[in-house]
Amino acid sequence: MNVLLIGGGGREHALAWKIAQSPLLTKMFAIPGSPGIAEFAECVANISIADNAALVTFARQNAIDLAVIGPEAPLVNGLVDALNDAGIKAFGANKDAAQIEGSKIFAKRLMKKYGIPTAAFEVFDKPDDAKAYIKSQGAPIVIKADGLAAGKGVIVAQTLDEAVNAVDEMKTFGAAGSKIVVEEFMDGEEASVLALTDGETIIPLIAAQDHKRVDDGDKGLNTGGMGAYAPAPIVDAEVSAQVSERILKPTIAALKSEGITYRGCLYAGLMIQNGAAKVVEFNCRFGDPETQVVLPLMEGDLLELMEACADGTLSGKSVSWRESSAVCVIMASGGYPKAYKKNLPIDGVTKAKSLGAMIFHAGTKLSGGELVTSGGRVLGVTTTAPTLREAVDKAYRCVEVIHFDDVHYRRDIAARALK
Ligand code: AMP
Ligand code: GLY
Repeated sequence: MNVLLIGGGGREHALAWKIAQSPLLTKMFAIPGSPGIAEFAECVANISIADNAALVTFARQNAIDLAVIGPEAPLVNGLVDALNDAGIKAFGANKDAAQIEGSKIFAKRLMKKYGIPTAAFEVFDKPDDAKAYIKSQGAPIVIKADGLAAGKGVIVAQTLDEAVNAVDEMKTFGAAGSKIVVEEFMDGEEASVLALTDGETIIPLIAAQDHKRVDDGDKGLNTGGMGAYAPAPIVDAEVSAQVSERILKPTIAALKSEGITYRGCLYAGLMIQNGAAKVVEFNCRFGDPETQVVLPLMEGDLLELMEACADGTLSGKSVSWRESSAVCVIMASGGYPKAYKKNLPIDGVTKAKSLGAMIFHAGTKLSGGELVTSGGRVLGVTTTAPTLREAVDKAYRCVEVIHFDDVHYRRDIAARALK
């Protein structure tokens, strides 16, 4: 099979690494790819992942058998529909299905209509109405922009003042912030369950826990994710069964009742308290960095499963897991998720690999043959080991040999599970 992978972050590097192990693979292309993905795929940087027509043309010219779409933006932008219309198979949610991430209001209304457990909410288009409602509810309370805001459109307000200011801040998210969702605050521990689905059969992957805040102890601003580990013990067998029966199956069925066949990866972001799971959010794609810890534990052929999702033939297939733990520590640019420097030389990647780490590139590029930083999240340092403790220790030994100026990483990835 000829595969076209769309994206260039750590998640896509992990996908490329796993897809490259498939005996079904003939050749892989990546748009735009990355210096890390270049080990597995021919990277093509001069086509925008927002340009559906150009991507379809590329797929046709290169006899692509399956396109695998990593990030949410092209999914929400209808890339899968455009490819399918041109007779090209794709792994990923189509435009209608991607609304589950693209519109918080769509997702919340779907959950409410079909009784899928989530926080109570109200939707507002007038800031003053949102503020009045917030005052009637009290804090803590959660304010969200409706549309895609690169993970930054959510404010968990601890006080009423913060909540009221958050409503004003939503304006800075442009169209995404023109409608505001105000949500009940949910307490508990978060976990992510990704699931492969062809719209009928659902295969949940091993649960992972992300670390969204920038600083140790879950302090500081929300980020795309500063590190992850899997399996997440908070998702024990009971919680896992509950997630399947009360969340994943009803959601795929609800979408079907609405005339939407969901094919691809459905990401359920969960809040778990006293053994009960509620949905924080759905994403229409693999999580990042979750994918960087889930795939290293997966046995078998991901490409075969992805093709089955696209074909609607997932029934009867299954996934098995290595009896190990995986940890990913994100090495980020100092300042992220706010402004940060770029083009800083990165040292020590080869050394870290020799110590047993997988290094997934999230924001790097080559400059005059030298690896330099080019994004907020720069590298995902992933290790696996028989126990979580060993995986964590190994990950940090590898992190310590990598250097770039102003590097920032959390030192407490997986600490909660180790307690
Ligand atoms: P989202 O983009 O919806 O996942 O929100 C980003 C982060 O905000 C989540 O990972 C949670 O940590 C937090 N969050 C979102 N909604 C809630 C809620 N209703 N209660 C508590 N925390 C929340
Ligand atoms: N790790 C959070 C996300 O992928 O959205």
